[in-house]
Amino acid sequence: MNIAILTGASSGLGQDFLKALTSCDLDSIWIIARRAERLDSLASAFPNKSIIPLPLDITSKDDLIKLENKLKEEKPEVRLLINNAGKGLLSDFVTADGIALSESIALNCNALTLITRLTLPYMKKGSAVINVSSIASFAPTSRMAVYGATKSYVTSFSRALREELKPRGINVTVVCPGPMKTEFLPVAKIEKGKSTAFDYLPYCNPERVAKNAIKSAVRGKAVYTPTAFYKFYRLLAKILPHALVVKFAKT
Ligand SMILES: NC(=O)c1ccc[n+]([C@@H]2O[C@H](COP(=O)([O-])OP(=O)(O)OC[C@H]3O[C@@H](n4cnc5c(N)ncnc54)[C@H](OP(=O)(O)O)[C@@H]3O)[C@@H](O)[C@H]2O)c1
Repeated sequence: MNIAILTGASSGLGQDFLKALTSCDLDSIWIIARRAERLDSLASAFPNKSIIPLPLDITSKDDLIKLENKLKEEKPEVRLLINNAGKGLLSDFVTADGIALSESIALNCNALTLITRLTLPYMKKGSAVINVSSIASFAPTSRMAVYGATKSYVTSFSRALREELKPRGINVTVVCPGPMKTEFLPVAKIEKGKSTAFDYLPYCNPERVAKNAIKSAVRGKAVYTPTAFYKFYRLLAKILPHALVVKFAKT
C-alpha cells in the first residue's frame, strides 16, 4: 500500500497539500491534526479517495506512539511524508507567553523530527520528505525570535538529512514560504497594525505553494522558496552579513 502522510491537514496550507495529494497516484492519504471533525469533513469531501483521518496531537508522546503502532500494524510504503504542522508567536521575547513559545518548539522541531524518524523505515527509493519551514529560517527574525530559530532548525535538519538519505534514493525538500493568509496569523497573534512585515510584505498563495512543493520534491530539489521576491531575499540573506540582515528582517 503506497501512502502519503500529511501533518497539519485541518487548515491553511495543509488543506491545499491534501487537495494536491488527491491528484497523486497513492492508495491512501493519512491526514493528521488535533481537530477530528475537520479531518472527517475533509475526508468526506473526497469520497473517491482513501483518506484516513488520524486525530492526533503530535506534541504528545502517547499520540506519537499511536502513530508508531499504526505504522507497525499496516506496514505501508510511505511515498511522501509532509511535515507541515507548525505555529509561531509574534511578540517581544521578554514579554512573550513562555508556554506558547515552548509549544511552538515542541511542534516545529520535536514533532517534525520524531515523525520523520518513525516514518523513514517505511520509505524506499523514490520516496520523499517535505518539511515546511519559512523565510524566517534565512536569517534571525526579531519579534519572532523563537519561531525563526525553530524554522532555521527545520531548514538545517532537512538539508543534512537530504545528504544522509541520498544513498537510499530518498529526497528531502524544505519549503520556505513567505506570509500566507491562514489560521497561522491569528494563532501567532498577528493582527493588522501589529507588524510592518506582515502588513506590507507580499503574501504567498497556499494552493500554489502546495502544488509547487510537491513538484519540487518529485524533481529531487533541496529547497523550494515561492516567488521571485522571496528567492531574492534568500539570496541576500546568504551573501550579506547576518548582523546587517537582522536589522531589516524584523516582524
Ligand atoms: N501562514 C504563514 O504566514 C506561514 C508562513 C511561512 C511558513 N508557514 C508554515 O506553514 C505551515 C502551515 O501553516 P499554516 O499557515 O497552514 O497554519 P495553520 O492554518 O494554523 O495550520 C497549522 C496546522 O497545524 C495543525 N497543528 C497545530 N498544532 C498541532 C498539534 N499539536 N498536533 C497536530 N497538529 C497540529 C493545525 O491543526 P489542529 O489545530 O486541528 O491541530 C493546523 O492543521 C507551518 O509549518 C507554518 O509554520 C506559515
